[in-house]
Amino acid sequence: MRILGIETSCDETAAAVVENGNRLLSNVVASSVNLHAAFGGVVPEIASRSHLEVILSVIDQAVREAFQGQTPEEAWDQIDAIAVTQGPGLSGSLLIGVLTARTLAIAKKKPLYAVNHVHAHVYASFLTKTALPGYNLPAKPPAFPLLSLIVSGGHTQLVRFRGHFSYTVLGQTLDDAVGEAFDKVAKILGLPYPGGPSVALAAKNGNPNSVKLPKAKLGNKYDFSFSGLKTAVLRAAQELAGQDYAFPSHKLPKALSASQKANLAASFQQTAVDTLAGGLSEAIKEFNPKSVVIAGGVAANQKLRWLTKSLRPTPVFPDIKLCTDNAAMIAAQAYYQASNKRPAADPYSLEITPDLSM
Ligand code: KG4
Ligand code: ZN
Repeated sequence: MRILGIETSCDETAAAVVENGNRLLSNVVASSVNLHAAFGGVVPEIASRSHLEVILSVIDQAVREAFQGQTPEEAWDQIDAIAVTQGPGLSGSLLIGVLTARTLAIAKKKPLYAVNHVHAHVYASFLTKTALPGYNLPAKPPAFPLLSLIVSGGHTQLVRFRGHFSYTVLGQTLDDAVGEAFDKVAKILGLPYPGGPSVALAAKNGNPNSVKLPKAKLGNKYDFSFSGLKTAVLRAAQELAGQDYAFPSHKLPKALSASQKANLAASFQQTAVDTLAGGLSEAIKEFNPKSVVIAGGVAANQKLRWLTKSLRPTPVFPDIKLCTDNAAMIAAQAYYQASNKRPAADPYSLEITPDLSM
C-alpha cells in the first residue's frame, strides 16, 4: 500500500510517499524558516502564505520522485491513499494542507486519512527502507510495548504504547515545550531562529557546568516544565552582563561576550537534555518497554543522543532529516490506521483540529 502524506502544521510544507508504512519512496520538505528568522519565531500569516505558494509543487515533486520515469497518471494510479495532518498546529497552515488533501482525495478518488502530528512523529522511526540517498534508517521497526519521548517545538511528552493506537500519556510539559525553550534561549542570547540548532552550535564552545541552572521538581515525575529554566537563563545572562533583573532582554546579546553566550547555551542545553533523559530513564525502569523511541525536532540534538545512548533498550532516533517536521511520518502513521481498519475521513467534511491532543 502506497500512501501520499501531506504536512503543513507549522512552517514546513511537506509531501512524501511511503510504501507499507516502512519504505520511503520520496520525501520533499519546503521550509519557510528563512522568512520567519527575521522575526525570531514563526509568523502564522507568513507560514500560511508560503504553504499556499508551494504546496502543489511540493506534492508534484513528491509524486514524481516516488515514481520516476512514469507519467503523472501512472504515478497517481499507484497511490492507494492520501494522509494529512489534521492537528495540532497553526489553523491557517493546517487549513491549506487539509483542503488540498480533501480536494485531491475527491478528484483522484482515494481514501483520506487524518493524522495527529504529535503521534506521527513516532512513526519516523518505523521507516526502515529507502533507495533515496543520504538516509540513516534503523534496521527494523520498534517493537511494542514501546516507550516514546516526543520532543518538539510544541510538545514534550512521554507516551507508553501497548499498540499503535493503544497508548497512555505518562506525562507532558506543564508550560513550554523543550524545543520552545531552545528557541527562547536562542532569542535571549541573540542566536538565530530556530533556536535548537543554533543553541547546540554555540554550546560546543561552552562549559556545560559553568552556570548553575535549576531543574523543575513536579508532582508527577513524568511531567516536565521548562519555563522556569528559560527564566533562570535570562537571570544568569543579566548577572553575567553585570546587570539586574530589570535589564531589557533585547539588549543582552550586545552585552554578553561570545564565551559567556557559549557557557549559557551549554549549561542550558545540558540541563534541558538531562531533564529529558532523567524522565525517560525513570519510565524505562518502571515500564520495561521492548523499544524506546525519541522523536520530534529536539531528537536531532546530539547531546540528547549522546546522553541517552547508554539506556537499555537503546533509544531509536529517526534520521536527522526525519526528526523535524516531514510528511513521511504522516504517511507512515496512516498506513497503520489503514492496516488496523481504522475508518478513513470524509473528504467532503474533514475539519482541522488546531488543538488536537494525543
Ligand atoms: O518537530 P518540529 O520540527 O516541529 C514541531 O512539531 O514543533 O520541532 C521543531 C523544534 C524547534 O523548537 C527547534 O528549535 C527544535 O525542534 N530543534 C532542536 C534541534 N533541531 C531542531 N532542538 C535542539 N537541538 C537541535 N539540534
Ligand atoms: Zn512536529
